[in-house]
Amino acid sequence: MSLLKVGVLASGRGSNLQAIMDASREGKIPAEVVVVISDQGDAYALERARSAGITAVVVEPAGFPSREAYEEQVVAVLQKYGVELVCLAGYMRLVGRVLLKVYPNKMMNIHPALLPAFPGLHGQQQAWEYGVRYSGCTVHFVDDGMDTGPIILQAVVPVLPEDTGDDLAARILEQEHIIYPEAVNLFARGRLEVVGRKVMIIQN
Ligand code: GRF
Repeated sequence: MSLLKVGVLASGRGSNLQAIMDASREGKIPAEVVVVISDQGDAYALERARSAGITAVVVEPAGFPSREAYEEQVVAVLQKYGVELVCLAGYMRLVGRVLLKVYPNKMMNIHPALLPAFPGLHGQQQAWEYGVRYSGCTVHFVDDGMDTGPIILQAVVPVLPEDTGDDLAARILEQEHIIYPEAVNLFARGRLEVVGRKVMIIQN
């Protein structure tokens, strides 16, 4: 099976990027990360990419007159490396129409809560403060809303009485590192079909 070419957009520490790169290197998924792009020059995700021998590119929005112009540059880099699937992994910007048009239902995001609950920033902390008994994480296709696209996979974790917000975030992160590579795996194998709001997982 030929390897699906994945491009990752990341703004920070890049642990989900690492999980996808590791699954690829270990031959667990028929996909390879071919380029990592960050909007932050000092993102640790860039270091992780370089250590894995993967091209790391910084595209800083400040250097462009508009979001469209910035995204056109991001698209140019993705296309240069033949990217077929874009994974947002801690990418701290709303995606605009330029990226969406080129990668419709070919762009995924991971969110640290059970969507549609607790979208936006700090989903783990929001859930902990609210007092839910269970939270988790969600991989979804990206649409033009904030964390609103069709849901691909979710994982549930309990919230324990003695948990701090950080404890809960750590428990969720462990699951993120499992379901994000799995979502990429399903996509790479052609097993995801979007029907309206729903994502069908085609059985083998
Ligand atoms: C994760 O919690 C992810 O769910 C959210 O941003 C965080 C990124 O972490 N979208 P990392 O950069 O992948 O370590």
